[in-house]
Amino acid sequence: MGVVEFARRDPAPADVSIEGEHPRRVVADVARRPHHFEQVITVANEKGGAGKTTLAAHIAVSLASAGYRVLAIDLDRRQRSLSRFFASRDATARRLGVGLPMVRHIVLNQTSGAMLFQEIARAGPDCQVVVIDAPGADSPIVRRAIAMADKLVTPVNLSFVDLDLLAHLNPVTQDFVSAGCFAEAVQALAETRAEMGLAATDWIVVPNRVRGGAGGKMGEACLAALGRISPRVGFRIGSGMTERAAYRDLQLLGLTQLDLQHIPSLPRAHTVARKEILRLHGELQLDAPGQVRVRKAGLVPA
Ligand SMILES: Nc1ncnc2c1ncn2[C@@H]1O[C@H](COP(=O)(O)OP(=O)(O)O)[C@@H](O)[C@H]1O
Ligand SMILES: [Mg+2]
Repeated sequence: MGVVEFARRDPAPADVSIEGEHPRRVVADVARRPHHFEQVITVANEKGGAGKTTLAAHIAVSLASAGYRVLAIDLDRRQRSLSRFFASRDATARRLGVGLPMVRHIVLNQTSGAMLFQEIARAGPDCQVVVIDAPGADSPIVRRAIAMADKLVTPVNLSFVDLDLLAHLNPVTQDFVSAGCFAEAVQALAETRAEMGLAATDWIVVPNRVRGGAGGKMGEACLAALGRISPRVGFRIGSGMTERAAYRDLQLLGLTQLDLQHIPSLPRAHTVARKEILRLHGELQLDAPGQVRVRKAGLVPA
């Protein structure tokens, strides 16, 4: 599984509006509220259980371990899983008396776009990167989190049911027919960003919970389908994360495999799992922490 080249995409339908809100309105709202982060990484997929919170937590910890100042924002105010992960992390570090790379974290309790920008400015004035964990649903605030993303990370499970949100496929040939509901929404925002002269969002779809040997025949077929969808919809494909108890079991403690090197009282890190996290981090293609400026103005023009 390698990173697939990003190619030109088919245009999204012109009339994609969400809950009566035109994408132009969403992007205009984002563009007129400057934020100071060099990189906004939004982890989103309308599908629940795809691994958004898991990936957001691992990305945030990996970036903090590499020396970035990171703010994590949990947009899921019902489940609060990302926030609970980081609260457990703080508690684990205190209880074990170990120093861990820390991530500032907040839950957004309001649903307005204005609050998102206000909270980002309030909670992380000196942070370089913000990682936003979106709930598995469409809403005005999720649209804004996608519209403001420099990097959009979408975990998908290798099942045709999950791929349907990215693209409708011919059921016999599994060829691309049209964009799925989530992809349509992302495309509409991306096109609007381009129309408004803003830099393109780098969209990375990450196969998650891949079972051994790329998930057998069905996994292989889904990966092949993803490869066909990618140029039509406009994302690149990350190498992916396998299904591992080694990820899940540490989540309760707010830890990742990267943290075990700091905690001699816990078992040693799982080498392959550690490599997968670092590979995902590398595939985000961020500048090194020393080169990341704290941005003065808003979104970067194209
Ligand atoms: N790569 C993985 N290996 C093992 N378990 C995983 C993996 N990714 C996610 N999970 C588990 O799957 C469930 C759903 O993941 P979660 O990140 O909460 O999804 P989402 O935020 O998209 O709803 C959780 O129990 C999580 O621990
Ligand atoms: Mg979640």
